[in-house]
Amino acid sequence: MTDDLHRRLPPDFVWGVATAAFQIEGAAHADGKGESIWDRFCRVPGAIADASNGDVACDHYHRVDADLDLVASLGVDAYRFSVSWPRVLPRGQGDWNEAGLAFYDRLVDGLLARGIRPYLTLNHWDLPQALQDRGGWAARDTLQHFVDYARGIQRRLGDRLAAITTHNEPWVIAMLGHDQGNFAPGIQDKAVAMQVAHHLLVSHGLALQALRADGAKAPLGIVLNLGAAAAATDSPEDLARMRLDDARGRRWYTDALFKGQYPAEVLAELGAAAPRVEAGDMATIATPMDYLGVNYYTRVVSSAGEPFDVKTSGLPLTDMGWEVYPQGLTELLLSLKRDYPELPPVYVTENGAAFPDTLVDGRVHDAARLRYLQDHIAAAADARDAGVPLAGYMVWSLLDNFEWSSGYAKRFGIVHVDYATQQRTPKDSALWLRDLMQRVRQRRATTA
Ligand code: FCB
Repeated sequence: MTDDLHRRLPPDFVWGVATAAFQIEGAAHADGKGESIWDRFCRVPGAIADASNGDVACDHYHRVDADLDLVASLGVDAYRFSVSWPRVLPRGQGDWNEAGLAFYDRLVDGLLARGIRPYLTLNHWDLPQALQDRGGWAARDTLQHFVDYARGIQRRLGDRLAAITTHNEPWVIAMLGHDQGNFAPGIQDKAVAMQVAHHLLVSHGLALQALRADGAKAPLGIVLNLGAAAAATDSPEDLARMRLDDARGRRWYTDALFKGQYPAEVLAELGAAAPRVEAGDMATIATPMDYLGVNYYTRVVSSAGEPFDVKTSGLPLTDMGWEVYPQGLTELLLSLKRDYPELPPVYVTENGAAFPDTLVDGRVHDAARLRYLQDHIAAAADARDAGVPLAGYMVWSLLDNFEWSSGYAKRFGIVHVDYATQQRTPKDSALWLRDLMQRVRQRRATTA
């Protein structure tokens, strides 16, 4: 059943759409913006599949008012976006760039004027290159620069925000950025990656403490990318591997955040690549959060032997080659509730899918994406029914945009973007979400 989704979640459930600065803003060199590590990484030959970059992207920086009208037309409650750190602090520290701050003022005020709640993320990957030049997230100094940045953003915008997220997906920054090296800054060093993972978490805790000391009004949290744990077979070897992968990818972050410790089995296998942990770090990481954001796209199938081939699973695959596995969202959320009974409110802060869309006569019939969203919202509702404190759900993404090392070829938007003209066209999935939001609002009106 998908036409009862508006009834399966409570009237105060927060419905939203999500974006990130580097993926949509463009204006990479406008109005005093500094260089980010992604601006630099896009120049590395072969780094981006279509050799593209974020210079123009969706040109959201220059089209913010029309884009906010678009968000409003969907009728959603919330808009999740990120601040480009180098746009407001071109060198990562020191002098603020007033033009950059003014842009986010305008964005936040524009959301509030349209009745949409701003969910702000401080770090959605576009670290100022000036800080990378001084060691980036591997350098302990960066933690204090992040705290200063967080405090400045709260000073300027904090009274108008619905939430402040410190980091988006620390696993991706650490592992893809510093171990596999296929994301900025393109480093391939396991020990560095684990130090980065640790520093991201410590800086998260330090920022929470500083923002609260400054009188934070907005709820504070972090966003993790988490898959559902699965094993290729029921063999003891595959199941053991599944538990280890789950400890590496999920519990490394959630045990640290909710228990103040790293999983012993991961520390043991890391050996000399384990991060340097200073006294007090683990308690800092475990600073209580007001909410946890979860980005869910697919499951992770573990195998002790040859890597699992998703093409053999029989599940539909998205354009990213990711399995469509909605019940994994239920399983994942239940695993969080099981492992951390004191779980704060949880938001699904990203969920969505890339499919090869075609624009014909002003329409995009993205039936597969629409179905994906319906099935995942239903799976989220199942988790809520089973006791998970689920507070909201946000679609990734509002717009087709720059999908990191995949460039512009992968389209995650519920709104199609013609990159030659910057024309926006709501896909069928957007029209469906708009109808769902209408039913949500009617129900709120009758239950008020
Ligand atoms: C997540 C990122 C987001 C987007 C989606 C598809 O890992 O947070 O920016 O690229 O994946």
